[in-house]
Amino acid sequence: MAFSRLIEAAAAAEAPTIVIVLLLSFIFYLRRRNSSSSITRLPPGPFQWPVIGNLHQFGRLPHLSIQHLANKYGPIMWLRLGYYPVVVVSTTEMAKEFLKTHDLAFSSRPKSGVGEHLVYNYKSMGFSPYGDYWRHIRRVWMTELMTPKRLSSFRSIREEEVCSLMRSIWEKSEQGRVAVNVSKAIDWISSSIVWRTVAGKKCSEDRDGKDLCDMVKRLMLTVKEVNGREIIPCIGWFDLQGVTRRMKETHRIFDGVAQNIIDQHINGRKREQSSDVKDIVDVLLEMADTGAINIQLDSIKAIIFDVLTGGIETATSSLEWTMTEMVRNPDIARKLQQEIESVVGKHRTVTESDLPNIEYLQCVVKESLRLHPPAPLIFPRESTEACTVGAKRYVIPPKTRLMINVWAIGRDPAVWEDPLTFKPERFMGKDMDIKGRSDFRMLPFGGGRRGCPGAQMAIGNMELILAQLMHCFDWRAEGDPSELDMSEALETSLSRKHNLFAVPTLKLLNCI
Ligand code: HEM
Repeated sequence: MAFSRLIEAAAAAEAPTIVIVLLLSFIFYLRRRNSSSSITRLPPGPFQWPVIGNLHQFGRLPHLSIQHLANKYGPIMWLRLGYYPVVVVSTTEMAKEFLKTHDLAFSSRPKSGVGEHLVYNYKSMGFSPYGDYWRHIRRVWMTELMTPKRLSSFRSIREEEVCSLMRSIWEKSEQGRVAVNVSKAIDWISSSIVWRTVAGKKCSEDRDGKDLCDMVKRLMLTVKEVNGREIIPCIGWFDLQGVTRRMKETHRIFDGVAQNIIDQHINGRKREQSSDVKDIVDVLLEMADTGAINIQLDSIKAIIFDVLTGGIETATSSLEWTMTEMVRNPDIARKLQQEIESVVGKHRTVTESDLPNIEYLQCVVKESLRLHPPAPLIFPRESTEACTVGAKRYVIPPKTRLMINVWAIGRDPAVWEDPLTFKPERFMGKDMDIKGRSDFRMLPFGGGRRGCPGAQMAIGNMELILAQLMHCFDWRAEGDPSELDMSEALETSLSRKHNLFAVPTLKLLNCI
């Protein structure tokens, strides 16, 4: 999240008004500070300025800023982001305290304009506070939408889309003569698979498909902008009209698309009543029809929102980094190709049934998620009750936001040997949980009750796409692979700052 843009927004507002707001906030801040420090023992942290708190200490890559602060203040810190108190943790041990010992107390999400206006008054699972509604929707996700049986029913969608990606890469590279934009190809495949899984629609490269993909980007950017502005409510107020207008406009566009998808499903079902693969909207409408589960139209639309916003950009940036590591580390790429060939051979393409037999592939995906987690700071949680944490028995008051620096945890030298080296072998022979349930050494999917419900789907998609890309082609960087630019950019997820380009050479004729 680009916190510096908030400061720019503040500078754009009227100076005298800002001075008055600053003064009032300073008085308010002193009163709050005195009252809270007398009853709690808070973790250490840097001085908090009135109004902005520690916002000025966050750069465009907040996980780096936080790591820098943690080097000085320790694995648990107390900060203020604008108006909101935040506890920040940066080690496995502290993350375990919050995601295991105090998971329930930190299982809510803060109130937000996005939750209220964009996602049907907190009907989205990702934005809804902890409570009956969240539990109900989580049950729908886990027992109906993301079961192994349901995910395997989407297999033909994935295999078809991946095959067409291979053909398109070969065409775009002019039969291996020029470099292709690997980032763009990955973005396209992630969008296509998720759109077809959720709505049966192809996110093709024609006008319609592009509009759908653009809409998801618009949704993500709105979420980011609104969340950012809410950090300093008094600055948000200056632009209340603008932000609310944009949010309502985005909501209107999304609602139109979601309603259209639902109408097409209802009409389609009336005509044919059967289809080879039931997509997520089919499943939800069927449950609503039969009364198997109590689910309203707004909740169905909010689930569509969650799958699109939760499932596309995260998977795209993850795979983009994985392919970057493959191009940068030719020996590892070769080893992966040999492992794939030893299971699949040289005369057919990879299928999903092959994946569990290619252990090194799973290790490569894990290693990539360790070093390059798409969500470097898990989405904000908020405490619902006070709790005491750590050996020093810090008391964290209710309504505190939790930030876990997943990026720093995955690179912690106290936990990982040679942490900055891409070394998939470290996972060989170990069945390590990376979903934050029993192991907290890496947390790409968050953890505890609120952990990512789409983790299995994401891992399955990543493994299949990566296996196919590496089985079908050799990949070569345009220059020296060890010089490949590794700069990060945090837009809606932590991705490469610059697109990855590489030249493919065909290894397997069946792929095209
Ligand atoms: C590589 C891909 C993905 C990554 C790295 C990722 C990461 C995350 C993280 C870090 C969280 C926050 C967890 C927490 O607060 O502890 C989360 C939540 C969530 N993710 Fe994912 N995710 C991915 C793919 C997906 C997919 C494919 C879907 C949908 C099919 C999805 C849907 C969601 C939803 C709905 C939530 C909110 C859960 C809640 O608040 O109860 N994610 N994800």
